[in-house]
This record gives sequence, structure tokens and C-alpha cells, in this order.
Amino acid sequence: MEIKKQADLIRPAWEERITELLGKMTLDEKIGQLHQVGPSPVGGFAVSLEEHRQMLADGRITQEEFDAFCSGTARDTQEQDVREGHIGSFLGVSGAEACDHLQHIAVEESRLGIPLLFGLDVIHGQHTIFPIPLAESCAWDEALWEKSAAIAAAEAAADGIAWTFAPMVDIARDARWGRIAEGAGEDSYLGARCAAARVRGFQGEDPSAPDRVLSCAKHFIAYGAACGGRDYNNADLSEQTLREVYLPPFSAALAAGAATVMPSFNDVNGVPSSVNTFLLRQILREELGFSGFTVSDANAIAECVIHGAAADRRDAAKQALAAGMDMDMYSGCYRDELKALIEAGQITTAQLDEAVRRVLRIKFAKGLFDHPYTRHRLTAAELAAHRAAARDAACASAVLLKNDGVLPLLLKTPVLLVGKLADCAGEMLGTWNIYGRAEETVSIKAALEEEGVLAGYLPCCGPDMPLDRDELTQAIRSETNTVIAVVGELADHSGEASSLCDIDLPGEQNEMLTALRQAGKTVITVLCNGRPMAIPNAVERSNALLELWHAGSEAGHAAADLLFGRAMPAGRLTATFPYRSGECPLYYDHPNTGRPLSPGRFSSKYLDAPLEPLFPFGSGLTYTTFAYDDLQCTADRQGIHAAVTVKNTGERAAKETVQLYIRDLVASRVRPVLQLAGFRQILLAPGQTERVCLTVEPERLAFYDTRMRRVIEPGDFLIQAGQSSADGLQQTVTVSADLAADYLRQI
Ligand code: NOJ
Repeated sequence: MEIKKQADLIRPAWEERITELLGKMTLDEKIGQLHQVGPSPVGGFAVSLEEHRQMLADGRITQEEFDAFCSGTARDTQEQDVREGHIGSFLGVSGAEACDHLQHIAVEESRLGIPLLFGLDVIHGQHTIFPIPLAESCAWDEALWEKSAAIAAAEAAADGIAWTFAPMVDIARDARWGRIAEGAGEDSYLGARCAAARVRGFQGEDPSAPDRVLSCAKHFIAYGAACGGRDYNNADLSEQTLREVYLPPFSAALAAGAATVMPSFNDVNGVPSSVNTFLLRQILREELGFSGFTVSDANAIAECVIHGAAADRRDAAKQALAAGMDMDMYSGCYRDELKALIEAGQITTAQLDEAVRRVLRIKFAKGLFDHPYTRHRLTAAELAAHRAAARDAACASAVLLKNDGVLPLLLKTPVLLVGKLADCAGEMLGTWNIYGRAEETVSIKAALEEEGVLAGYLPCCGPDMPLDRDELTQAIRSETNTVIAVVGELADHSGEASSLCDIDLPGEQNEMLTALRQAGKTVITVLCNGRPMAIPNAVERSNALLELWHAGSEAGHAAADLLFGRAMPAGRLTATFPYRSGECPLYYDHPNTGRPLSPGRFSSKYLDAPLEPLFPFGSGLTYTTFAYDDLQCTADRQGIHAAVTVKNTGERAAKETVQLYIRDLVASRVRPVLQLAGFRQILLAPGQTERVCLTVEPERLAFYDTRMRRVIEPGDFLIQAGQSSADGLQQTVTVSADLAADYLRQI
């Protein structure tokens, strides 16, 4: 793989200065560089006293840590610790003034003046909140992914932040897993393109620029394969699946220059990632050429004890450092144990120095030794441009899932608005929005008021509000026939520690939709949520269904733009919607079986769910139609070349995402029934036609065989070009032995 960008992180001038510094540092100062302090044992979350008590009871924090939290001493000693060089990084301190204050102490009052690194979870915006990452992935637009990350970086940098714990590049195939909200969905090819774009956006060409931040590819690895979709659960998977499905987004992020990596909480085939030498040394460093540093997830090193993978905190620290974990987020295991381990000869100075070198290297790469303080200032004009970009992003991320012709609404159509979520601006921000503010967020109600079309608003019910039957009766009796029903889930029902076993609409929202439809209303449903949902009832009861997601600061405006046709819906799903929760994990690129899905009894399916998913990967409608024709495919030594003609057969100009899939028809290891291998967005005027050519690179044809060799096996491949994973023109082409042999020679 391309590791140039990683090699670029190693500059002889920096390495010399690091060697010099290492020569001057005391053992405590070295350990200090590996110690990150933060607000709580679960990372950047505000954690209640109750939760701290629970963590003490679980053994996740020690009595001393609990006492320090209760008495506030943990915070009181920090400035002194900075002065003594005992802290390398902060998590959760934000604001130029607060960061610069601590930075002054580090740079001017500590013995060696090594700058601090301020990290924060800037996942989809700092002040201007963009759609949650899952939503944004549905735009299938690299320029957009890069731009929203760049804006988040600029706003974070102006707040003194030098490092974001993003992008989250975990492939997620199980919609019950709450953290599906934070990534780019279920497909590793799309996920890899998105990961690279986001890294470019955060870091720019050079992460030392005042308005950029360092990125962190997380969570390494297979966190999304948590058994049963339950957060933090173990991941048990073949090495082939690990490498073919879960690794590509990380490889792409590193190739784009990601400066840091966060190993995941979970264990992979029995070994927690935090102490997993195979993952952190062999794959990450040796194979992928990673030159930056790794940071543990919050408290994860200490949690190896509870995991049952380490005897005590000292053992956990020893294993983690040996495995290649450079920085300890919060747990204090490194601060408390590394010195004794060195003195006992259980870890070597070389091991310690290696980790410190990596941390210092990235501080150099960020330019902190030359420019330790906040340099970026935001202007009002920039902030206004950020809002406009967030509105465009929210429009591009929405997916129109059903439309019987009722959308777009004619301008000035009076509408009755129902659903509590319509008036919950804060919920539109979604998971991980630390500084997003409800009062600066446009709710759907506020946007429709601005349009001047609101005939009335009745909350009726919400994810956390039971059905108010009086309000529902009023809605039914209203003279306004067109109802916009805003339904979905709360922001904190997706994201970390938010797994669900039932992903249907919560509460009585379905009942509300049923009653409205039965009363003869035209029901336009807007869905605000953080994961794919099993919502066949909502689909059936709705004349149109717009998946808006948790769309960020400009959610309401984007909804209005789309409903009234000022913006054309163009999003395509990046995660499959099942009919029923029990179908999870459900994803399009599953391996074939000997008894594939069919109406026949003895086939691979559930008896109590339809054969096809509710909405397949790649699907989404717009206010026009497209026709595909004349697929022509050839194969040569450069790969497979496909050309297809696409025509806008409707009345409005719109964007189409042309999707190309492949299937290796016969192979020595069973291959997926389809794999995304390319896509292109085109804009077509009504009646316009375009010939779209896409090439499938040899890499996309390769897989790991039973002996873990990366191979392309010559033979027939099915090619499918169309509007989603579930439709398209198909043709078969033959991949030659020459192509396969060339590939083998070159890897
Ligand atoms: C825990 C989460 O798993 C991780 O994604 C996050 O970056 C850290 N906490 C820090 O808040």
C-alpha cells in the first residue's frame, strides 16, 4: 500500500531534536508524555456521580480515582503536573483561552518546554454541526466529506484543539450497534474512500497549518463486529474478514496521512486491541507502515484487567506498551506503573523511548514546538459560510425512501406538522456534538414557520412522549390535509453505549402514523435518527418518507429545502434497512451460501421476514427518474472497464450516483454475492444522456485465500451497474491469468 504520507511524518530534523530531547528527559518526564488526562473514565462525556459509583463497583476505576473525582483534586493538581512535565496531552479541555493557559505553563514553566497536545472528539463539527457521519456518508461525495471535516477542523483549531479523535472508520453491519451513527456504514470500499477524504479534510496537506487538526483513525479494529451489535462486546472473526472488510478504511486513512490511531475497546479473537501485538505491531506498524502514535481508548488499558486479559494494572501497562500502545487515555496505568516496570527490568527503556518518540514526532508534525498557541481565529463571514455548508451537507445526506408523487410539495402548500421531534432542535444534532447548541439549531418547526406554510403544530407523540390522544384527534379533525410527521429516535439513542435490540420506531409513533393515514391524511414522514431502522409500518402508512437523519445545525432548513423541491434529494443508503430487528446483522455484501435466498423453503432466510431488505444498500429516490442502458464491460491487464449509458427520463435536473458492483463467480473461498467496486456522481438535465465509464482496479478483484495469500483468481466476474445494490444491468467478463499474475508480481 501507499505509505508515503506515513513516511513523510518522519523528518530527519525532527528525529534529531527528539533524540536530543530524549537524552535530557527524566524517566518521569518521558512517562508524562504518554499520559493523557481527561474529564472522565469514559472519555469526553460528562459522567454523573452515580455512573462513577457504578464504575468503582465494576472495578473500572480505583478507590483513589473515585476519591479524586469526588474531591476535585484530580483537577486541582493538573497545573502542577503540567509544570513538572507529567502530562503529555489533555482530552476535553477546549477554548483558546483555557488551552493557551495550560500551554503557557507547559512551554514556559516546565523544564524542557515540551508543548501539550489538546485532543477532543470533534466528530461531525465543533460549533457548526454537520449531519452525523453515517448520514453524510449517504452523500457519496468525497468533496463534501473533505469539506465538512475541514470546517470542523477550523472551528476546533480556533478553540485551541490540535487533534480530533476522528474519523471513526469502523465498518458497521449491525444496525443495533449504536455507533453505526459515527461511521460510513457497512461497505468497506465506500468506507475507505470516506476515511481518506475525512483525513484530508482534518489534516489538509500539512497538519501544522493553523486551521487544521491531527486526525485519529479509530477504533482499530473490528469494533463494529461487536457480537450481537452490543457495544464493547467481543469480535470473533476470521483473519480474512478482518483484512478484507474491516482493514481497508484504516489502510486508506493511513495512506492519506492519519497521524494517530486509536485501538478499540473490544477484544479481537480473544485479545483486547489495547494489548494486541498482532494488530498494533504486525499489521499497523509493520504492514501498514504507520509512523504516528497510538492512543488507547478511554481507560481501556486499565479495563484489560476487568476483561481478564491482564492480572493487574501493572500487567496491563506492561502488555500495552509492549504491544505498541503509545499513549494512555485517562487510565493512569502508564503514569502509575511504567516507572516500576522499568526499574524491575520488565520493560526496557528502548520500549519507552519508542513510544515517547512517536508522540513527540506528531507534536512536531503539528508544528507545536514552533507554534504552541492558538493561531486560528474565525470571522463572522467564515461562520456564515460554515452554516451554508452544513445546510448543503444536510440536503446531500438525506435519502428519499418513498414517494408516491406527493413530493415535492408545491410552494406555499399549507401543512399540519406533527411529532415532538419537529420541535426538538437539540435532538437534530445527533450523537457526539459536544459544543453544538440547541438554541443555534434550526428545528423543522422553525423552518416551516419561516416558509410561512405552517397551518398548525401538534406534537402528538415522540420517541420519549406517549401519544396524546386529544392532540391526535385535533390533528385528524384539522382541515389541513397534508401532514408532515416528524418521527425517529433521540440523539442519545445512537452513538456510544446506545445499542438497541429493537430498532423499530420507539414509543407510539407508529400508532400516530396509522391513525393519520386511516383518517385519509396525506402523510409525509420525515425520519430523524442515527441508525437504519426496521420501520415497515411507517413506510406503509406514509405517502412519502424522507430519511433526514440527525442532520445537524441546519436540519430544519434542509428538510424544507428538500420537501419543497428547492434541493433535489440525492442521498443513497450506505447501510441496509431491515424489515425486522431480528434480521440484524443485515448487509448486502454477504458471502453466498449453497442455498441462497429464495422463496423455496430450504433456503437461507427467515420465515417471518420478507426476502429482500426494507431498503437495500445504495438505494434512494429523487424527484426525477433515470434509465440505464447498454452496459459494456471488458477486462484487460489493468482491470475491468465498464461503460453504461444513463439518461434522465424525468422532468427535473438531478444528481445520480452510478454504482458499479462485482461478483467473483467461482473462487477457492466463497465470495460475497456483490461488492461495490466503483461509483460516480453525475448531474443530468431532463432528457440528458451520459456515458459513464468506470474502471475496477485489480486490487478490488483480489481476496485472501485459505492460506492468507492475497490473490486474484482468473475466471468469470459478474458486473452490475445501476442505481443500488438491488438493481442494475448485468454482464459477465473474464479476468485473465495474465492480470492475476501481474497482480501477484506487484504486491
Ligand atoms: C470513548 C470512545 O470510544 C472514543 O471514540 C472517544 O474518542 C473517547 N471515548 C474519548 O472521548
